[in-house]
Amino acid sequence: MTAWERRVRLAAHPVAYPLVRAVARIGPVVRVPRVGVVVSDAALARAVLTDTAFTKTGPGSPADLWTPVVGPSVLLNMDGAEHAELRRRLADLFTPRAVADLVGRAPLVLERPLDLVAMTRRLAGAVIAELVGLDPGLAAGPAFAAATAVTGQVRLARPRLTASQIATARAAMAELTGPAEAAYRAGDPATVPGRMRSLGLSEHEARGAVAAFVLTGTETLVSFVPRLVALLLDTGWLDRLAADRSRTDDAVAEALRVTVPSPVMLRSVAVPARIGHLDVRPGERVVIATVSAARALGGFDPDRPHPPELRRLWFGAGPHFCLGMPLAMAEIRTVLDAVLAAHRERPWRIVRRRAAFGVLVPAYRELVLDA
Ligand code: HEM
Repeated sequence: MTAWERRVRLAAHPVAYPLVRAVARIGPVVRVPRVGVVVSDAALARAVLTDTAFTKTGPGSPADLWTPVVGPSVLLNMDGAEHAELRRRLADLFTPRAVADLVGRAPLVLERPLDLVAMTRRLAGAVIAELVGLDPGLAAGPAFAAATAVTGQVRLARPRLTASQIATARAAMAELTGPAEAAYRAGDPATVPGRMRSLGLSEHEARGAVAAFVLTGTETLVSFVPRLVALLLDTGWLDRLAADRSRTDDAVAEALRVTVPSPVMLRSVAVPARIGHLDVRPGERVVIATVSAARALGGFDPDRPHPPELRRLWFGAGPHFCLGMPLAMAEIRTVLDAVLAAHRERPWRIVRRRAAFGVLVPAYRELVLDA
């Protein structure tokens, strides 16, 4: 890992990050008081994610954390048949064609100097805005601020938000999701709220989904894209890719493995079960340390293939596998291709960077490139 990757993680989680890494050194499955059963191995993580004994709706699960803020029906806090049906109805918003259209309509301006954090925020904000029927201007600035205000309150050893945090988060989200009512009322099939209406879900539920898409679809990219470009510059790979485009997919996949924008996944034990050699009880919280499972392979090296158990684990596995992955990949490639094209003319270098403190998703606060 580069020194700056380490800095970005520690700025976000000065206590939790070293703790999670230390637990991985103890063993692949470890029960940690106040945190839960921590799984640090890729094959075991995959087994948990694809086993219905583990849910997203019990104590210590994502539902416990998010439902008070976004309501009950937003995929990431659902399970079973209802979850599958909502995903099915949303699926064709994420076909290769649909995501190419969405990303093609979003603004992409590469000025010099270039702050990649601000730029990714504009792009990702505009894309999500279109998807959920919001004004693009609102999604890039205020929406991102609202989302980080909510996620920034979450800590590993705090499975639920306090009443006052919930009130603050709901107010921030209400400002954001109010305008999405129009998309719901119009029943526009090109938007998430419109699709939810056709499924018979309420306006309240659709507003929650808008909040959830802004939460899942902006911070992850604003985290990843600048970290990707910084990694490529710090390791000399941006020059290699500028000379040989055919390696771009491998470099992006490897940067996802090294950065793991969504560093942990949470589950709750529904029925007595076993993870590796450890018996777990209903109501226990399971913390899948994706970051540890991915890091076990070593430092950034796009020449080394990923073993099958690790493949795309940073997007999850099983029924909750990241719905937005095709969209995320299209946005990543759009920015990276533009950065590479400009690099061929006048090579970029990093002139200024700062890590973001007190955030849930580790990120740069600013990453400024110039020639
Ligand atoms: C590099 C960027 C991204 C990463 C690393 C990422 C990662 C993940 C992961 C790990 C999960 C599964 C969580 C779990 O099982 O507990 C997930 C779910 C999800 N992601 Fe992404 N994501 C990214 C971008 C996006 C984007 C751009 C969207 C926009 C629509 C999105 C929408 C979602 C949704 C809606 C879910 C919930 C799916 C469900 O529960 O059925 N993600 N993501």
